[in-house]
Amino acid sequence: MSKKLIQQFVCQSCGAIHPKWSGKCSDCGSWNSLVAETTTRKKVSIISRDGPIEIHELDDEISEVARRSVGISEFDRVIGGGLVEGAAILLGGDPGIGKSTLVLQILAALNSGSSEVLYLSGEESIQQIQLRAMRLGVSQKGIKIACLTSLSDIKNAIEKFPDVTFVVIDSIQTIYDEMVESAPGSVSQVRACAFELIRLAKQKGFAILFIGHVNKEGVIAGPKVLEHMVDTVLYFEGDTGMQYRIVRAIKNRFGPANEIAVFEMGAKGLDEVSNPSRYFLPSTTGRSSGSSIFVSMEGTRPLLLEVQALCVPSYLASPRRSVLGWDANRLSMMIAVLNARCGINILDKEVYLNIVGGLKVTEPAVDLAVIASLVSASRGNTVSSDYVFFGEVGLSGEVRSVSHIEQRLAEVQKLGFKYVVMPNVEKNFSCQIEVLTVNNLRELLNLLG
Ligand code: TYD
Ligand code: MG
Repeated sequence: MSKKLIQQFVCQSCGAIHPKWSGKCSDCGSWNSLVAETTTRKKVSIISRDGPIEIHELDDEISEVARRSVGISEFDRVIGGGLVEGAAILLGGDPGIGKSTLVLQILAALNSGSSEVLYLSGEESIQQIQLRAMRLGVSQKGIKIACLTSLSDIKNAIEKFPDVTFVVIDSIQTIYDEMVESAPGSVSQVRACAFELIRLAKQKGFAILFIGHVNKEGVIAGPKVLEHMVDTVLYFEGDTGMQYRIVRAIKNRFGPANEIAVFEMGAKGLDEVSNPSRYFLPSTTGRSSGSSIFVSMEGTRPLLLEVQALCVPSYLASPRRSVLGWDANRLSMMIAVLNARCGINILDKEVYLNIVGGLKVTEPAVDLAVIASLVSASRGNTVSSDYVFFGEVGLSGEVRSVSHIEQRLAEVQKLGFKYVVMPNVEKNFSCQIEVLTVNNLRELLNLLG
């Protein structure tokens, strides 16, 4: 096998390789993203493989996927019920949000179950890691640590522990492969290092977790290629100023996606929040206008959230709209629907919307609660704290059905609310709360008074 150095231009946003530099990547359309990287092209002679290629039947007998509980039930839930042998996990998030803290706690919890675990850091010194471990009270757990940045050193370190079950790389952007002549963190380096380590994990049967930096847009730095390569992608949601730290599974080959784990950062690291609905809800006393409660589905778990809206007069030609935790385009759509279908005009007002707690809601079922909050904010009256809303709102003002109605109703009942306002699905649900169905926004407005 001979190797030849070649120069190529790699788009740092999509990973596309171009033979020549240009100002715009022709694949993804991003500007000024091509960076010269030198790599070796391996010339492999084509040799036919020994023996026949095995083809399997879809219904061939397989052994059940063995899952190892991490010992932190919120983390177990978000990865689909425990660590799978050979799984590759990517954990992304803002600096200082708690990535290194969380992995150290996971390693400690795993190690209490007498399995061999390895923490390889390219970011912090041994002393820094030891100090954090002392703070977390996990120094005595026997976690093996090393500060390494070279891929070959990392592979050697892993080889030293034949019984290793879990390896953490903190972070994938700091390690480099000597065979790739570009800076650590570049697309080629990230791709080469991740590929090699994932291959090793699958071959030796240990689970591997990569910590990934995020860029200013909040996505993992480098191209999506890294997210395609791993089995599970986890993101820390919200920012460091928030009280709660939410880890969401964006992709999971071993369980449901969109599942969340909720933690609270305390003096001794991240504490699990096992009943988050109670934490995200406001106290019932002193509710003001513009606030309503929504029951959302986060993965397989229902969660009650508060939706807050504020409408104030604007002196600008195009009034300000500001949204935290939801889609700004969808807010504009709801404001337009309110104007066109119900005659409530807040087009000339500044509108602020906030999903309290730092969670990002993506499902359209929140529409009905947003409308209730907007109506309440514009009229200045409060929505009764006994009500919970869910349902999608269409452009003609109709209220449409959503999924997982039974689970949502069960959570609302569990938390002691009296009424739930939801779409008319022509089905009876056996629950002790009063279900108020609405077909369109006019009916909702009548209900709100
Ligand atoms: P860290 O886990 O290093 O974040 P990341 O690896 O994502 O950059 O640190 C998280 C922050 O949490 C840090 O600013 C200090 C704080 N922290 C606590 O509040 N309590 C603790 O017990 C620990 C270990 C950290
Ligand atoms: Mg860190």
